[in-house]
Amino acid sequence: MSSPDLAAYARDGFLVLEDFLPAAECAALQARAAELVAGVAAPAHRTVFSTEDQRHADDRYFSESGDAIRFFFEEGATDRPTALALNKIGHALHDLDPVFDRVSRRPELAALARALGLQRPLLLQSMYLFKQPHIGAPVDWHQDATFLYTQPSTVTGFWIALDDADRGNGCLVALPGGHRGPLRRRFRHRGGRLSTEILDATPWPALEPVAIEARRGTLVVLHGLLPHASAPNRSSRSRHAYSLHVIDGRADYPDDNWLQRPTLPLRGFA
Ligand code: FE2
Repeated sequence: MSSPDLAAYARDGFLVLEDFLPAAECAALQARAAELVAGVAAPAHRTVFSTEDQRHADDRYFSESGDAIRFFFEEGATDRPTALALNKIGHALHDLDPVFDRVSRRPELAALARALGLQRPLLLQSMYLFKQPHIGAPVDWHQDATFLYTQPSTVTGFWIALDDADRGNGCLVALPGGHRGPLRRRFRHRGGRLSTEILDATPWPALEPVAIEARRGTLVVLHGLLPHASAPNRSSRSRHAYSLHVIDGRADYPDDNWLQRPTLPLRGFA
């Protein structure tokens, strides 16, 4: 990564690196995800993932998925086959699945994390995001540090397009420079359940959102405080992506964060 790239990241809070992941590796992740999905028995229990009402917050299938590979469904997709009904797979693919492990720990990604200043990187969370044709739900404006909180804030998102992502199928949108504002909310365990705590009522900055269109294989680096979202997928095209979140082991990771890994110690890129 060049120093102009680092300057752009510091200014905007995100960075777009085209052709980061070779096509063969994109295909390997998609094929592996399809295999995992094929192994899902017709579930009696379908946990819906929604950023709008966070109904999943009461659900142990969700709250105990930090050290597991679990499958979350789109709302209103009950009549669809599983492969076309899933919202995402999460949240420890990078540690529990050999294919996702290999791709998540590519030397290029480790070097990038180092260049971004993560001195003791720990791979905290991974998600395979489906954004299904026609029903792929929007993701509300948020900061990733709301969900993956450290003190000080260190979480950095690596979002890789596995299909071409554009305005038509719900690409990422962001408020450039918005990462310089405060963390607004924190999603955490409190009183025996998960809930969202308001930390700072500052509104999102009044900026024109930028659509981050990304061809297959493009890596988008997201600062943990950057406000971002994505629109629904109303097209007939899929918009698969792989998202990996890394924190710095020098920062404090509170034990009331939603994501806990009692059975699986955090690992770096090695
Ligand atoms: Fe996010």
